[in-house]
Amino acid sequence: MQDRILSDNESMERQSAIEAVRKRIAGLELGYHIETYGCQMNEHDSEKLAGMLRECGYHKAESKDKADLILFNTCCVREHAEKRTFGNVGFIKELKQENPRLILGVCGCMMQQKEVAKKLFERFPFVDMVFGTHELKHFPQMLLKALDDKRVFQVTESDGEVIEDLPVERIEGFSTFVNIMYGCNNFCTYCIVPYVRGRERSRKPDDIIAEVKQVVSEGYKEVTLLGQNVNSYSSDGLDFHALLRRVCAEVPELRRLRFMTSHPKDLSDALIDAMAELDSLCKHIHLPVQAGSDRVLKAMNRKYTSEDYLTLVSKLRAKVPNVEITTDIIVGFPGETEEDFEATCALVKKVGYSNAYTFAYSPRGGTIAAKMEDQIPEDIKKRRLNKLNAVLAETIPSNNEKYIGFEGEILVEGVDHRGAPLLFGKLPNFKMVYVEGDERLIGTFVQVKVEGYRFNSLFGHIIER
Ligand code: 5AD
Ligand code: SF4
Repeated sequence: MQDRILSDNESMERQSAIEAVRKRIAGLELGYHIETYGCQMNEHDSEKLAGMLRECGYHKAESKDKADLILFNTCCVREHAEKRTFGNVGFIKELKQENPRLILGVCGCMMQQKEVAKKLFERFPFVDMVFGTHELKHFPQMLLKALDDKRVFQVTESDGEVIEDLPVERIEGFSTFVNIMYGCNNFCTYCIVPYVRGRERSRKPDDIIAEVKQVVSEGYKEVTLLGQNVNSYSSDGLDFHALLRRVCAEVPELRRLRFMTSHPKDLSDALIDAMAELDSLCKHIHLPVQAGSDRVLKAMNRKYTSEDYLTLVSKLRAKVPNVEITTDIIVGFPGETEEDFEATCALVKKVGYSNAYTFAYSPRGGTIAAKMEDQIPEDIKKRRLNKLNAVLAETIPSNNEKYIGFEGEILVEGVDHRGAPLLFGKLPNFKMVYVEGDERLIGTFVQVKVEGYRFNSLFGHIIER
């Protein structure tokens, strides 16, 4: 797959659509609202949609009720997300009655499943635009049609491509995302992502570095490099650890570099060495294990055993000081026995995660696992999920004991007003720390000493500005 920028023709088409939209809405002061579901990849796509909307002359609306254009950027990783989207789209009907000029669009992963997209388009005649994940670059043209009162349905099959010249309207703050690759080739048997995001394709290192430099010049202090499986990044002869080394060397002003998500099958010794050696590379890895039973891991097509995984954990802990590991786990995969499930609980206890996202298996149409026999009844999945969460509720806090007296640096993100106001921010290894302090410290790095903890967060005080 070649990287490319839009061809001259496409660029001209987009540009003339942008100008036509600007003319059409001139003087109307129209606002947009984007509702994003799912992962960081979707959040970042929403930032690109916002960038194009700004180019088209829209501003960000104060709230959904005040918007003249609402976009739902959907997720389909689990069934629950799909149900919520249908419910939330249904609610917009009332807003459309109040504001007849309101345009409603639904996009993202769920809309890349053509059958689901069609169903939504037919069930809700007040939806103006439905488009899939490969259509982002055509957004201004689609918007122009919708402004002409034409309903837009644009879902195309594609392996995907790399589009470089879309504007980005980033969420304000100190931390931001930069895509390094798109799509996934792994076809874990439960997962719909490879079907809705296309094949793996990596951006060129020069484009990535230019974007990192750009966001640092805009004032961002922390960058997370994003991909479904960053460990299989490959472009211009560079693999992932070499990319990290280049980013750190060429953007020395960047204080914190993060990345996600890592697939254990591709986590190399070279990456672990880079994590140990590069100062600005944060000592945190999100390493989804999914299950602790080798039989289930095989049926999931994960291509590692629990022993392989534990070996990686040992290497990380041996080489990377203060490293913290987070994970994703699925319970109730088809055929999972009590013994398999117990193996997952045992692995969780052995690893000592600092946090974990746990899910009940949700069958996704078109995936291999959805057709497997021995689907697990919902009540058993629920019971196992509760039990796994109880195991985590014991192991996560016990991992915090070692932080008492620990000194480190946090990037202050904001103030928590739930009780007495407390500043909060993360250590490089993603541990959240709460401290008393002045709101003016938001967006700065402060040195803290940890005194206590509550579940997965730490509490302490500032020791030095
Ligand atoms: N059911 C439940 N969880 C899933 N995930 C992906 N697909 C499914 C599914 N069908 C979880 C995995 C993945 C995370 C993003 O979502 O744990 O790592
Ligand atoms: Fe889905 Fe597996 Fe790809 Fe992750 S690596 S996106 S779980 S197919």
